[in-house]
Formats: sequence, C-alpha cells, structure tokens
Amino acid sequence: MLGDFTYCNPTKLYFGRNALEGLKEELPKYGKNVLLVYGGGSIKKNGIYDKVLALLGECGKTVYEDAGVMPNPTVEKLYEGVQRARDCKADLILAVGGGSVCDYAKAVSVSVNCKEDPWEKYFIKFDDVDDGCKIVPVGCVLTMVGTGSEMNGGSVITNHKQKLKVGHVFGENVFPRFSVLDPEFTFTLPKYQMTAGFFDIMSHILEQYFSGEDDNTSDYIAEGLMRSLIKSSEAALKNPLDYEARSNIMWTATWALNTLIAKGKATDWEVHMLGQAVGAHTDATHGMTLSAVSLAYYRHIMPFGLKKFVRFATNVWGVSAAGKTDETVANEGLAAMEGWMRRIGLVMNISDLGVTEDMLDGIVKSTFINEGGYKVLSPEEVKEILKESM
Ligand code: NZQ
Ligand code: ZN
Repeated sequence: MLGDFTYCNPTKLYFGRNALEGLKEELPKYGKNVLLVYGGGSIKKNGIYDKVLALLGECGKTVYEDAGVMPNPTVEKLYEGVQRARDCKADLILAVGGGSVCDYAKAVSVSVNCKEDPWEKYFIKFDDVDDGCKIVPVGCVLTMVGTGSEMNGGSVITNHKQKLKVGHVFGENVFPRFSVLDPEFTFTLPKYQMTAGFFDIMSHILEQYFSGEDDNTSDYIAEGLMRSLIKSSEAALKNPLDYEARSNIMWTATWALNTLIAKGKATDWEVHMLGQAVGAHTDATHGMTLSAVSLAYYRHIMPFGLKKFVRFATNVWGVSAAGKTDETVANEGLAAMEGWMRRIGLVMNISDLGVTEDMLDGIVKSTFINEGGYKVLSPEEVKEILKESM
C-alpha cells in the first residue's frame, strides 16, 4: 500500500550515442568558470576528456581542472576540491567519470560556500545544507555504470583515519542538474569494474525490494528492472561491445537508484552498511564489497521476510513453487542468484578483499545498523554474517 509522498527528480538526462551534444544545450545556462572534475586518467586514454574539452571551448568556458578523484573519494581529497572550487570561483562543477567522481562533485558543491567542516557537518552530523549556503550546480558525464549517482543526491565519502565510509543522501537541490549517459562511454571499463557495477545495481534494487509486506507498485517495477539486468549482464559479458545490453544496463542502473522504486517502501540498505564498513577497512571496490556479504546477509534474514523471498524466487528467477515448501522455494531463489553471481565473476568472500579474522571486530564497529529491513541486526549478528562471508 502506497503512503503519502512527494516525487520530484530534477535531473535532466541526455541518453544515447550523441548524448554528449547535450552539453551544448546545458553549458550556456551557467557562468564562465567550469571546474572539470575527473578521476585517475581513464578519460584521457579513451578520448572522452578531449571531446568534453572541445565542447567546453566551443561554449566559451574557462576551464579549471580537479583531477585524481580516487575510487571511494577521501575526505582529504574533498578538502582539496573545496579549496580548488573556491579559488576558481566555479559557476559549474562538471564531473566526468563514475560514481566516485559524481559523488565527490556533489560533496564539493555543498561545501564551497559552507563555513563548517564538511565531513563533520554532512557525514557525521548528517545536517542539511544551510539555507544561506549557495550550492554550486553539478553536471555529470557518466563513464561507469552502477551507483545511480547521475540522478540522485547520494554522496559517499571515506575517512580512512576514522575507518568510516559514509553516505549522505542530499535533497533535490543537490541532484545533478543534468547528466550525459552515453552507453559507449562505458565500453572501455575493465571487466572487474563492469561486473562490480552490475552487482551494485542489483543490490540497490534488492535493498529497496526486501522491505515491507504490502502490495506495492514499486516492487513490480523492481522485478522488471532485475530481470532486465540479469539478461543484459549475461549478454554484456559475452560481448562487452553489445550496445543493446550496455544501454539497457545503463538505463536500469539509473532507475534503480533515482528514488522512484523507494516510493512507498521503508527500504533496508543493510547490505550497503556492511559493504561500506568493509570498504572503510579495505578500500575495496564498492560493488564487490556488496557481493561478498549479500548471500550471508540474505540467508540470515530470509526467515523474517519469507513471503517476499518466495516472490523473489518465482517472479525474478522463475523458480517453480509447485509442491515445495516456502523455505525450499526461497532458498532456490537465493541459489539462482548465487549462480548468476558466480557466472558473472563477482567476488564472493570478504577474505578475497583483504579482510582477515582480526579485522572483524573493527568492521562490526564501522557498520551502521538500519531498521527498515526484515530484521534489525545486533552487533553479534553483524559479526556472524561477516564470518559467514569470509
Ligand atoms: O579514476 P579513473 O581513471 O576514471 O578510473 C575509474 C576507477 O578506477 C574506472 N573507470 C570509470 N569509467 C571508466 C573507467 N575505466 C575505463 N573506462 C571507463 N569508461 O573505474 C574505476 C571505478 O570508478 P568509480 O567511480 O570508483 O566506480 P563507481 O561508479 O562504482 O563509484 C563508486 C563510488 O560510489 C559510491 C561508492 O560507495 C563508491 O565510493 N556510491 C554512490 C552512491 C550514490 N551516489 O547514490 C550509491 C552507491 O551505493 C555507492 O555507495
Ligand atoms: Zn551501491
């Protein structure tokens, strides 16, 4: 049953092979100074950097650069970016990269005109952006698919000293004003990143799907998105240049986490809490931290949301329920998901990400406990799940 909500997603999307041309429509809307934010250099190798720079030049922009945004952007890099954006009086922050670059751009955008320490304010105290604080607009050119950062208010920053990886979900005023989604830009992704992105998408859908027991339109949309992802992921693995598959995956990723399928749902996000804690201690690739903990987590909570796990098995994985108990059907659904995860080559254990037994207590401490799923975990249960994920 849907409750009361407002829905607004202000991000304008340009999708397809000529999507970058959208910059010609968007750039004139902003002032002269553009802070071009990007990562470790993949965009220079695959030519996206040159294409973006040419369009910025065509539109008469003065370009300042902030390069070297690392996967899982750090708080130190955030401080550096804020200073850079202040120095160049950025009118627009143009993020060209994956979720890390987009997330970072948003964190800079809300911090440029904020006097307080952004880590304390946004990632420890979870304050909103102050009314008087002018948010510098952000635009994205997406090169890695998975996070949904291109059409949401999420921004995840890692503090290695404090062993915390924290996401702040900002409001619509912080969503990218526009995002360019050209599936061909993702063709150069290494297989490891591509498949990590596949599981990030799956996890975002599951985090929203596995909560509540009511009949809810959001769940039917979620099932369709999962089925599309499963089909296209296998096709993309066979042929990474399969435009049909890569474009479907890109579109699925955006809709998996742009607030639509959260409508009317409590939403769980405990897999992300576990994965982010693992990430805070290992700096591992986000999607792989999720794949490594998911099965242990879902097998643990299954008895508390059994009916939904049965529905997942039948509607998403095509498990036949005839003559079987609910437990059997639910387990077969998770087994089918495990089969898919292994086929696409995901990391299945946190020990493969560098976690050792002596790190487990620290990871438990770094794990936030959420209340929207089928079972509120105790710290002991968190440890049990981590142990099972080793
Ligand atoms: O840095 P470069 O050289 O660009 O290389 C990147 C990086 O090494 C590379 N890459 C990206 N596009 C490429 C490419 N290599 C070749 N060709 C291309 N076209 O891929 C590597 C990973 O990039 P990254 O941006 O880190 O990946 P992803 O998009 O998975 O972002 C991960 C970050 O997003 C956060 C994660 O926690 C993590 O910090 N998340 C953000 C969310 C949100 N905003 O809502 C939600 C997610 O759950 C997630 O937590
Ligand atoms: Zn994620």
